[in-house]
Amino acid sequence: MLELNGKDRSPSPEFSPFALTNEGLTALPVYKAAGDTALDFGGLLDDPVKLHEDLASGCGGQLWPAGMVLAKHMLRYHRDKLQHARILELGAGGGIVSLAVAKGVRPNSPLYMTDQPEMESLMKHNITLNALDGKVLPKILNWGEPLSADIVDFKPDTILAADCVYFEPAFPLLMQTLKDLLALCPSTTVYFCFMKRRRADMQFIKVAKKALQVTEVVDEDRAVFSRQGLFLYTFSSRK
Ligand SMILES: C[S@@+](CC[C@H](N)C(=O)[O-])C[C@H]1O[C@@H](n2cnc3c(N)ncnc32)[C@H](O)[C@@H]1O
Repeated sequence: MLELNGKDRSPSPEFSPFALTNEGLTALPVYKAAGDTALDFGGLLDDPVKLHEDLASGCGGQLWPAGMVLAKHMLRYHRDKLQHARILELGAGGGIVSLAVAKGVRPNSPLYMTDQPEMESLMKHNITLNALDGKVLPKILNWGEPLSADIVDFKPDTILAADCVYFEPAFPLLMQTLKDLLALCPSTTVYFCFMKRRRADMQFIKVAKKALQVTEVVDEDRAVFSRQGLFLYTFSSRK
């Protein structure tokens, strides 16, 4: 198992929305005060997601641009497939992607919203805020650590990950978790959206391409979000 020391395992390693600016290729979100937002993704949701944002627990406490793009993509293109899917989100932060999918699709199976322990209370808060208790299950999943028995039994076939590429020492941990999840179910698809902030971020995709089937995804908003440095891929096991 790959390991980081205690300092590096922080949910906001050397990171705040104020950091990473010297080498940044794309503007970072503005630091927001804690508060609630309602999001309907341009009318794709009849009942908007309510999101409490609070950076007190780490960078995941704020909504990130890749989360918006991924949630919108899933609602626009994958509603039917998601209905019957076994879904797990990695690095969920406040949980925007899981909450949007749970509200817009109402999947048959409960959906796992996962992140580090520091984000657990915000995940729970937002699940309750949207009356999704029991339908969205908050869960601690530290990248690089062995998967828990309930996730192994669940065998997710749809993995969602938004803005999980931002801290280079965590890249091998995230890659290990993706491989572990893909090994559980040969037909699993990972929907992976991130913002390129540093040149090193594309290294993650280079490494992924060596081990996995990596495909850049068609989306009618791609011209717009790619200008903002956002990339949307699927990963799957090599046939
Ligand atoms: C930039 S935030 C993105 C949050 C959300 N997905 C979004 O798009 O708004 C990255 C998330 O990854 C989580 N994360 C970072 N390192 C992690 C690790 N080693 N294991 C699990 N989660 C991690 C952070 O806690 C944070 O919530």
